[in-house]
Amino acid sequence: FEVTWDAAAAEKGGWSSFMAKEVSEEPEAVANTIRGRIHDSAVVIPELDGLDELFAGTERILVIACGTAAYAGQVGKYALEKWARVPVDVELAHEFRYRDPVLSAGTLVVSISQSGETMDTLMAVKYARERGAKTLSICNTQGATIPRESDAVVYTHAGPEVAVASTKAFVAQITALYLLALHIARVRDSISAADQARHVAELEAVPAKIAHILEHEQERTTQLAHWMADTRSVLFLGRHVGFPIALEGALKLKEISYIHAEGFAAGELKHGPIALIEPGQPVFVIVPSPRESSLLHDKVVSNIQEIRARGARVIVIAEAGDAAVLPFADEVLRIPLAGPMFEALLAVVPLHIFAMGLATARGLDVDQPRNLAKSVTVE
Ligand code: AGP
Repeated sequence: FEVTWDAAAAEKGGWSSFMAKEVSEEPEAVANTIRGRIHDSAVVIPELDGLDELFAGTERILVIACGTAAYAGQVGKYALEKWARVPVDVELAHEFRYRDPVLSAGTLVVSISQSGETMDTLMAVKYARERGAKTLSICNTQGATIPRESDAVVYTHAGPEVAVASTKAFVAQITALYLLALHIARVRDSISAADQARHVAELEAVPAKIAHILEHEQERTTQLAHWMADTRSVLFLGRHVGFPIALEGALKLKEISYIHAEGFAAGELKHGPIALIEPGQPVFVIVPSPRESSLLHDKVVSNIQEIRARGARVIVIAEAGDAAVLPFADEVLRIPLAGPMFEALLAVVPLHIFAMGLATARGLDVDQPRNLAKSVTVE
C-alpha cells in the first residue's frame, strides 16, 4: 500500500482542521500567556517595566480593536475597571478616528490585534498617538506593525493562529487583559495584595478548567451542533462578562456556518429582542455563577423562563452544580466553577466548539470561510 503523506494534515497535527487544533490549544494559549508574568502571587509583566509612572498617571483607558478582538476588549473592560479602578471605553477601531474623539496625555490607548496588521486598528493607533495618547499593544504576532507603532506591547503567546476564526488568540487576549488589569492594579495599589493573589490563583487555574471542558463537554456540544445543523438562526444571551462572550459566540457561528446569529445583553430582552422569540428558536444563555452574584444569576434564570414561556429552545451554559437552571433548559453545557471574571474564559469554549461542529455538519470549510481573510489589511 502507498502511504500518502498529506503535508496539510501534518501541519494540522492530525486534526481535521486548524480551527480544531487551535481550540484544543486554548489551555496552553492561556498558560503560555501567563508564564513569566507572576511574581510572589502578583502580576509583574516584564515588558511593562519602567511604565509605573504612566500607569499611575493614567486617567482613562481606551481599548481599540475589531471583531473578536473587540469582544475580548469588552471582557477586559470589566476587569480593568473592577481591579485597576480606571475608566475604560471600548471602541471599534474603524469608528474611532472618524468621530473626532477627545484624547489627552492621560489617555492610555490599548489596542488588541492577533495579527498586529489590521489596518483599521493600525490607523486608529497612529491617530491616537499623533494626538498625544500613550499606546499599548496586545498582540499575538512578534514584531508586527501595530506593536512597532506602539509605546509598549504585551504579547499573547497563543502560538500561530491559522484558522480565520479566532479562538485560542481570543482566550489569550482576555488573559493578557486580566494580567494588564492586575499589573496596573498593583502599581496603583487599587486592590489588596490578598485580592491580587486570589485573582492570580484563579487565573492560573483557568488552563486546567478549559482542558476539563474540552475533555467532558466537547462530544456533547458537537453532537448538539449536528442535531441543529439545519437551524436558520441562533441567539446568544449573556450578562456582565457573559455579554461580550454572547457576542463572540454569535460572531463565531455566523462567520464559519453562515447562519444568522446575534448576541444580546440578557437584560436587553424586554427592550426589544424578546419579539424575536418564537417556538423552537434556539437560544444559548450564559448563566453567571450563583455563588458570586445570586442577583445576576437569578435575573438570568428569569430571562430563561421568559424565553422558554415563548417556546424558545434553551441551551444553557452554567457552572457545575447550578441546579436552578435545570427546569428551564433543553440542554445544559457545564463549565467548572470559577470566579465571576474567569467564567468568560470558560463559557466561550463550548461556543467555539458549537460553531465548529455546526459548520462541519453543514460541510463547510471551517478554516477558510467565504468572503473572509485572516488579517484585514485594508480599511
Ligand atoms: C475573528 O474570528 C474574526 N476573524 C475577526 O473578527 C478578527 O478578530 C478581526 O478581524 C481582528 O483581527 P486582528 O485580531 O488580527 O486585529
